[in-house]
Amino acid sequence: MSIVNDYDPNLPLERASTIPASWYINKELYELELKTVFSNTWQLAGRLDQVSQPGQYVTTDIAGEPIVVVRGNDGVLRGFFNVCRHHAAAVMTDVEGKAAQLRCPYHGWTYSLEGDLKGTPDFTGVCDFDRAGNGLARVEVGEWENWVFVRLGGSNSVSLEEFLTKQLVEEIRLITVTDLHWFERRHYSFDCNWKVFVDNYLDGGYHVPYLHKGLDSVLDYSNYMIENGARHCLQWSPIVTEGAEAQTGAVRKGDRALYYWIYPNFMINWYDGAMDTNLVVPRGVDQTEVIFDFYFPDVDSEEARARNTASVAVGQRIQDEDVSICKSVQRGLNSRAYTAGRLSVRREAGEHLFHRLLHADLSAARGNR
Ligand code: FES
Ligand SMILES: [Fe+2]
Repeated sequence: MSIVNDYDPNLPLERASTIPASWYINKELYELELKTVFSNTWQLAGRLDQVSQPGQYVTTDIAGEPIVVVRGNDGVLRGFFNVCRHHAAAVMTDVEGKAAQLRCPYHGWTYSLEGDLKGTPDFTGVCDFDRAGNGLARVEVGEWENWVFVRLGGSNSVSLEEFLTKQLVEEIRLITVTDLHWFERRHYSFDCNWKVFVDNYLDGGYHVPYLHKGLDSVLDYSNYMIENGARHCLQWSPIVTEGAEAQTGAVRKGDRALYYWIYPNFMINWYDGAMDTNLVVPRGVDQTEVIFDFYFPDVDSEEARARNTASVAVGQRIQDEDVSICKSVQRGLNSRAYTAGRLSVRREAGEHLFHRLLHADLSAARGNR
């Protein structure tokens, strides 16, 4: 695709531009992203607490592919395409659950928790049917901290740990996110390409003073830092208490806020005593779903519940503030007056990394054709 060449990944930040506007509106490029960026990277599939026992499973879809992750009777976590080998129906239809076996709702074929085909009603007399070869198709699965990731494929096999890098694994280990427990999930929809949301996230706090007055009152804008890793970016800010807006100040405490983005579409936002993760899911070239999971140290006591709910409300307010600007950007990207924009050296190093990684994935795919 020729528009992939419209971006020059070799320019230093001081000279770089954003990826071209066409990348945000072109359907072919969007399809190419699903086949490359979203298929070759490790993608969040669920939480470890959802699949701690044998028989527990979660379903999701990644790059349009139905996926199920299930813990076997042997305690091993496995990932499969959630596609029945008979006539392709989804075998597991709930978001999560616990089952003794995986039974397809269409014609009742059953698979073991390990993915082997077991039961095939009314199937006698079928010649040359290779039962052993008709188990569920596997995908790679990996566990890290509170989460389960899967990888659909791709030629170069990179383990989850390698993908995340030692540096990131060590940094996240130090903030002990395993002490935080899942509280609530919220879905937000954005009328924009998924990269508009990621760019907005990665702008180094550039938009915070203008769009998020509440958040701005607790962050130290001039000391906001941006640190790029190989495939992630950490943005962090000291937290200030003086002059904090009441609603935000009550639930954004501690001495710093950490915002981790992991290429291409997963974010971990950490405050002292609160964390949320964001999964950015493309739903069309100009439609994006962002799934937020909120975590807190105490998710059981009544008293904590009120505090946790107040914290989620602050998160909700920040998202609401981003919805209209993302829509506005998407409209502008379609304008004949706009082709690409320059980047702030002080603020937008994370976006620069994102765009270079995207270019690398998209151009490698072209080379393979
Ligand atoms: S499609 Fe699953 S049993 Fe027929
Ligand atoms: Fe924002």
